[in-house]
Amino acid sequence: MRILVIGSGGREHALLTGLSGNGLNELTVAPGNAGMATLADVRGVDVADPAAIVALARDVDAELVVIGPEVPLVAGAADALEEAGIAVFGPSKAAAQLEGSKAFAKEVMAAAGVRTAQARQVTDVADLEAALDEFGPTYVVKDDGLAGGKGVVVTGERREAKAHAEAVLETGPVLFESFLQGPEVSLFCLVDGETVVPLLPAQDHKRARDNDEGPNTGGMGAYAPLPWLPADGTERIVREIAEPVAREMVRRGTPYHGLLYVGAAWGAEGPAVVEFNARFGDPETQAVLALLKTPLADVLGAVASRRLRELAPLEWAPGYAATVVLAAGGYPEAPRTGGAITGEALDDPSKVLHAGTTKRDGAYVSEGGRVLNAVGRGATLEEAVAEAYRVIEGIELEGSFYRTDIARRAIEGEISL
Ligand code: GLY
Repeated sequence: MRILVIGSGGREHALLTGLSGNGLNELTVAPGNAGMATLADVRGVDVADPAAIVALARDVDAELVVIGPEVPLVAGAADALEEAGIAVFGPSKAAAQLEGSKAFAKEVMAAAGVRTAQARQVTDVADLEAALDEFGPTYVVKDDGLAGGKGVVVTGERREAKAHAEAVLETGPVLFESFLQGPEVSLFCLVDGETVVPLLPAQDHKRARDNDEGPNTGGMGAYAPLPWLPADGTERIVREIAEPVAREMVRRGTPYHGLLYVGAAWGAEGPAVVEFNARFGDPETQAVLALLKTPLADVLGAVASRRLRELAPLEWAPGYAATVVLAAGGYPEAPRTGGAITGEALDDPSKVLHAGTTKRDGAYVSEGGRVLNAVGRGATLEEAVAEAYRVIEGIELEGSFYRTDIARRAIEGEISL
């Protein structure tokens, strides 16, 4: 099958690795990155331009287009591809509003009876002090729209919360939320109308530094599955969150077809929604797909052709997978690019998935904040994490850094519910 993948990060490198089907499928990626060239033809495209994506899909005669990031989804790329008669994995513009507008997601959750944080939208700077009084002292302040991973601030400092809210208000509404207690779960659910099929549950590490210190990032590492999650944890998230939301989207006439990322906190009453995303998460995908045995093209193709209900149960490799992100010095505030990257496993996508890399004079150099992901698998979580660290220790990039405590609390049994 000829497949076009849209996107350029570690998530898309993981998707390509799964979609390659050991060379069975013909892959194109756009805009991609240098590390993907071993698996796919790398082309250019403006991901925010649905017409350009359709033109590229026609040019490569794609039989399936898989959209990785949220920007093209919210811009309507899936609608444009569908109108052009091209099979697409990714929700419509209307359905992608579950990620595109946090206020919309809250409205859908309220209608569907799904547990989530209390929230208040503020549009006028004069209402900020009242909102800060209502929601502190752990302030959760969110940009209502897409903000490229920079929209959320969680802080105990009123001054920091206010400054973020004021900055958000310059371009649109800001949302204040109550802080949800409990460890977080990222559960990726394939959704095809009312049919929901979960992948393995994962956990991300969003802060830049060990012990959850430093600024929020796009994600510094992840592992799957979660040894601390109750045996019925995945089923509860599907039953209490994903299925009611999928039904509500059908009821509204905007059915969801694609990947619904349920970000939940597991509190005293079970799972409550922290956020929805309309796409696979990064870097959780790099760990989750490392364990998927069912061919990924069959899985995503079943959603694209509205046949998810007919798909056989997903098959998973036993054990665990972990991924650790190598970040450029200065990330996330001001990542330094252009540094030479060396290491033996750089062209082995079973071990290294590229994110912010390019090639100069035939050698890899850094081009983004999150540069690459080391991936490890193992019979135990400890073995999987140790393998990921062995891989990352074999890579050199001056000034780069990575967290050294990915999955540590889970391994040491410190996460209890
Ligand atoms: N891992 C967080 C995200 O993909 O949004």
